[in-house]
Amino acid sequence: MAFNENRHDGVEPPLSPDTLAVHPWASARGRPRAHRTLNAPLFLSTQWEGSDLPQLAELFARDPDRGFYTRFGHPTTRLAEERIAALEDAEDALLFSSGMGAISTSLLAVLRAGDHVVAHQAIFAQTIQFLEHLSATAGVRVDFVDARDPQRVKDAVRANTRLLYLETPSNPAIDVLDIATLAGIAHTVDALVFVDSTFAGPLIQRPLSLGADLVIHSASKSLAGHADVLAGAVAGSAQTAARIRRMRVLTGASLDPHACWLLLRGLQTLPLRVRAQSQTAGSLAQLLEASPAVSHIRYPFLPSHPGHAVARRQMALGGGMLSFALHGGVESTRRFVGALRWIPLASSLGSVYTTLEVPEELDFAAEEIGERTASFALPPGLVRLSVGVEAAEDIEGDIRRGLDAVLSAT
Ligand SMILES: Cc1ncc(COP(=O)(O)O)c(C=O)c1O
Repeated sequence: MAFNENRHDGVEPPLSPDTLAVHPWASARGRPRAHRTLNAPLFLSTQWEGSDLPQLAELFARDPDRGFYTRFGHPTTRLAEERIAALEDAEDALLFSSGMGAISTSLLAVLRAGDHVVAHQAIFAQTIQFLEHLSATAGVRVDFVDARDPQRVKDAVRANTRLLYLETPSNPAIDVLDIATLAGIAHTVDALVFVDSTFAGPLIQRPLSLGADLVIHSASKSLAGHADVLAGAVAGSAQTAARIRRMRVLTGASLDPHACWLLLRGLQTLPLRVRAQSQTAGSLAQLLEASPAVSHIRYPFLPSHPGHAVARRQMALGGGMLSFALHGGVESTRRFVGALRWIPLASSLGSVYTTLEVPEELDFAAEEIGERTASFALPPGLVRLSVGVEAAEDIEGDIRRGLDAVLSAT
């Protein structure tokens, strides 16, 4: 049967995420299918013509996704948003020009002067910076706490707490946070719960089903998956999405339609990629843990991870991200990196390429995190490894090369 708008009739069983990820029309919600292209159409026009003035006004006010002016909405963008909403099982989803575009626009949409925010202490450095900027300029009070311990969050929330901001697994420490328990605490004071799920993605973790109000992605990472698109996404209730959509018109952080089209293509292989990445990352984590060169290793599905039980509960797979440190700190890390034959050093993550980064060695990161590192001290020389889809034996071979170089120097 061809995919068409009749498939959401509540009688047929829902399609699997593996299928929703592939077909452009499978997630299009109840709209007539206007085109017979198998691939999603890409409209390279920023403006649409109205048949008359009332119709143009109608598009502006009610349905800019059908085509009005691209900052407000766009049909190709909408197809990508609907696919992400389907994968997150959300009422609605929105795309942005970057992950930070999604985060900053969503925070601006829901926060007001006088509001209180509780955030996990070890989240993406520029998210911390943006929250600190709001605290310095917009009258928003932000408390960063160690949300691995739900009691700390319980102690921090107050009557005027409007938002609990989480990121799990976190970048770069791979902290695992208990979304269901923390959402329960935040909801006692009617605070919204935002979860940056970039390191997991919708095939692995569904924060909305665990009580979160908004799931956020840097879609530049595994959603797009090929290191060629900068994009951000959020998914949640229609009501929350509507507030954020209005703010997106003002921040102008809309995603270029061509990037939306690349994102749609990247999403088609998301299930295949995350399964391969999780499998390789799981065996690499074991290899690293067994090495006498390694002093610290965090991978959600390793039994030694402090959040292992939570990870097994809320994640379907371990994901492709892990971080580790070596005996001998930064010197050993430099030796390790110097011995690699082909794994590139690169700042981003979640793509088909295996890449690694040493956050401490990036001056901008050290400056951004600044004093905050003291409160959640990362092990010196921490390596963040993003596992790609290359042959597992080649990745393991290069990692062993690095470990051998560290061991032979000690
Ligand atoms: C967890 C997390 N959230 C947000 C971002 C920001 O995304 P972008 O670079 O697409 O703006 C990143 C980027 O590394 C990230 O790792």
